[in-house]
Amino acid sequence: MSKIALITGVTGQDGSYLSEFLLGKGYEVHGIIRRSSVDYRERIAHLEGTPHFHLHYADMSDSMSLVKLVGKVQPDEIYNLAAQSHVQVSFDAPEFTADVDAVGVLRILEAVRTNHLEKTCRIYQASTSELYGKVEEVPQSETTPFHPYSPYAVAKLYGYWIIKEYREAYNMFCCSGILFNHESERRGETFVTRKITLAAARIAQGKQKCLYLGNLDSLRDWGYAKDYVECMWLILQHKTPEDFVIATGVQHSVREFATLAFKHAGIELRWEGEGIEEKGIVERVNGLTNERVKVGDVVVAVSPDFYRPTDVVNLLGDPSKAKRELGWNPQTTSFEQLVELMVAHDMKKVAADDAAAEIRKVNLAEFLEKGIDK
Ligand code: NAP
Ligand code: GDD
Repeated sequence: MSKIALITGVTGQDGSYLSEFLLGKGYEVHGIIRRSSVDYRERIAHLEGTPHFHLHYADMSDSMSLVKLVGKVQPDEIYNLAAQSHVQVSFDAPEFTADVDAVGVLRILEAVRTNHLEKTCRIYQASTSELYGKVEEVPQSETTPFHPYSPYAVAKLYGYWIIKEYREAYNMFCCSGILFNHESERRGETFVTRKITLAAARIAQGKQKCLYLGNLDSLRDWGYAKDYVECMWLILQHKTPEDFVIATGVQHSVREFATLAFKHAGIELRWEGEGIEEKGIVERVNGLTNERVKVGDVVVAVSPDFYRPTDVVNLLGDPSKAKRELGWNPQTTSFEQLVELMVAHDMKKVAADDAAAEIRKVNLAEFLEKGIDK
């Protein structure tokens, strides 16, 4: 009998990689989707219609939908990845963020109890390095005190504690993976890494003039999402329910990420100025096929629009426990490889988007010329 997994947040970056990973392990995978007026299933489109992969409508803010779905699917494992996951957006929509990211976790736990699955169903909670927030020590490990520093982090802190509470109160196998930032070619386009790799590709291809960023000094421990989903599974296969820090143990600034990304796109940058006045200027171009990018052009500038009311600026994880107890290798994909693969992907994507737009233009021109009503 194959194991049954239920993934909330299946359409997200991590949900899509986790689905592939679990299908590869022979699981029957069920995912929760929401109704939307536009197609947002791009990341899992290649899995739809394949055997053992099933999608169901439900919502983290709708208890009844979760209770009914957990009863119907009878999962052996639940991976609770669904969240309003953008830190800056959580300042604009704090109540929604709390409902989905905090109370949503409680709804999942109660859905399992209501269906009397608490002895058999293991639960993974997508927790976050944002819990360390205004950090109290560097690097951060499982014993570092939390100091959440955004509405998102405060909501996720509730999720962390309610998981711990149900583990202790009801003896449930539920755990938090405290994951540091992990990125990929499927990363949402408004997170800083993807925003940079897409902009570097567009600028290199003459489709954009300048990239506006916020805090360039912010430090992150960036890993590759595909490597991290394995840990989610390993945490649920562990003999005892425990929380784990998942990180690479290597730290870089936003400025370093941008420098490397532009280099892979064929643009060497030098940095001038400080704070709001800082600029990324073209120092050299290598192998670009268009002549629109010139030495001396300002291609990165700072905009206060991307500053946060409170910003987390020094995240560095200590993955020793995951290495020791899960046998996980935190350096499977290096920072340099991560940036390279994201830029390579976006260079192709930007070129392909142009080709697709060109086809759409031709189709539209033909349509207008022929006139559908005539
Ligand atoms: P993501 O790409 O933003 O995906 C979030 C997922 O949650 C999407 O599938 C989204 O569905 C779903 N969702 C949001 N609100 C929902 C609701 N009310 N009901 C049902 N589904 C809902 O996030 P990710 O990067 O894959 O991250 C996965 C999880 O790990 C999140 O909980 C995030 O907070 C956490 N985390 C991420 C990182 C990281 O660096 N990526 C690090 C630590 C923790 P739609 O497609 O319909 O919007
Ligand atoms: N998004 C964004 N856009 N961030 C910028 C920008 C910009 O233009 N310029 C600078 N930054 C800085 C942010 O201020 C932050 O310090 C850092 O870049 C990373 O921002 P994000 O990529 O938006 O990620 P995050 O660290 O806030 O949150 C992500 O990682 C968390 C784990 O630590 C999300 O995936 C969260 O869901 C996750 O919990």
